[in-house]
Amino acid sequence: MLDILNLDSLEPLARERLDPMLYDYIAGGAADEWTLAENRAAWSRLQIVPRMLRGVGTRSLATTVLGTPVSMPVLVPPMGFHGLCHTEAEVATASATAAEGTIFCASTVSNRSLEAIAKACNGPRWYQLYVYRDRGITRDLVDRATAAGYSALCLTVDTPYAGHRERDKRNSLRMPEHLELANFPRSHTEQQHHGSGPGSALGAYINSMWDPTLTWDDVEWLRSIAPMPVVVKGILAPEDAVLAFDHGAAAVIVSNHGGRQLDSAPAPITMLRAVVDAVAGRGEILIDGGVRRGTDVLKALAIGARAVLVGRPVLWGLTLDGYDGVRAVLQHIRGELDLAMALSGVGDVKAVERELLL
Ligand SMILES: Cc1cc2nc3c(=O)[nH]c(=O)nc-3n(C[C@H](O)[C@H](O)[C@H](O)COP(=O)(O)O)c2cc1C
Repeated sequence: MLDILNLDSLEPLARERLDPMLYDYIAGGAADEWTLAENRAAWSRLQIVPRMLRGVGTRSLATTVLGTPVSMPVLVPPMGFHGLCHTEAEVATASATAAEGTIFCASTVSNRSLEAIAKACNGPRWYQLYVYRDRGITRDLVDRATAAGYSALCLTVDTPYAGHRERDKRNSLRMPEHLELANFPRSHTEQQHHGSGPGSALGAYINSMWDPTLTWDDVEWLRSIAPMPVVVKGILAPEDAVLAFDHGAAAVIVSNHGGRQLDSAPAPITMLRAVVDAVAGRGEILIDGGVRRGTDVLKALAIGARAVLVGRPVLWGLTLDGYDGVRAVLQHIRGELDLAMALSGVGDVKAVERELLL
């Protein structure tokens, strides 16, 4: 089992194992990476004022997300290409997440098919959707996700075009030949292998395939073709969170795509309070971006998030030790959250109050 002191310590270890181009793809952000850095810095500007003598000998970390029981308020967000990290790819990540009792969200651009991931994932799973210009492709993905037992559709709305990811452009990012875009015909995989010129093959693929014309009406269209709840991922403005619920979303994920899309966007945690207040209890609010500490989770819950999602550290764990590495990452954050709760006088994740923060 990986011996983890903190989640940040995994990144340099994983870097040693990965081809520099692939490490850059995972670690990197857009443009100057200001937003990427801010995603971490913003958590540290919040302070927890711990309460004493509240009898914290037992703590409850279990909660529900959209009615689904989870062992802790920490989920695994959609991330493309787990095959870059480990031969078992999403099959390892999904089964490890299920073993830790929480929700795995499979990306549209996975190296294992959504059916194979579902088969491996003996637990709750969501399917993340990028809407293709070819709506036939999109419908087909929704139908397949439904048939495979995914319980929510996570519609990512912050990627009408690929962000200006300079590392990937500089490296002329290509997907290694042994990997495929498993949900799609071979021609999609070939675009990722060869690209269409210099620069990032993934960037070119996104810009040619994904639909930049999406509007709020498409959230309703998706709801009309999908029998499961729709979670809108990539919200920062409180007004957009309200619009998401107006158009039928069951939940929103406050996110800036891990700093990979619009550089200069604020950290999600900076926006969380305004989003929670604007939504006023109409639905569940989740958040991701730079969550690395149990105290980060506690801060998000105190402001009113239902749960958080932890991205890159899961891929570092996958790189270092496959299925066991992902389990170790999730166990580590569970342990940090548990201790943070005890030291703050919080006995139950469902009852964290705003007064906990300065
Ligand atoms: C390598 C990588 C690939 C990603 N791929 C996707 C994706 O396919 N779909 C999506 O909605 N978000 C994607 N994201 C964004 C994550 O879902 C999530 O918002 C972000 O990683 C959270 O920030 P964190 O990595 O700082 O925890 C990706 C992020 C990374 C690092």
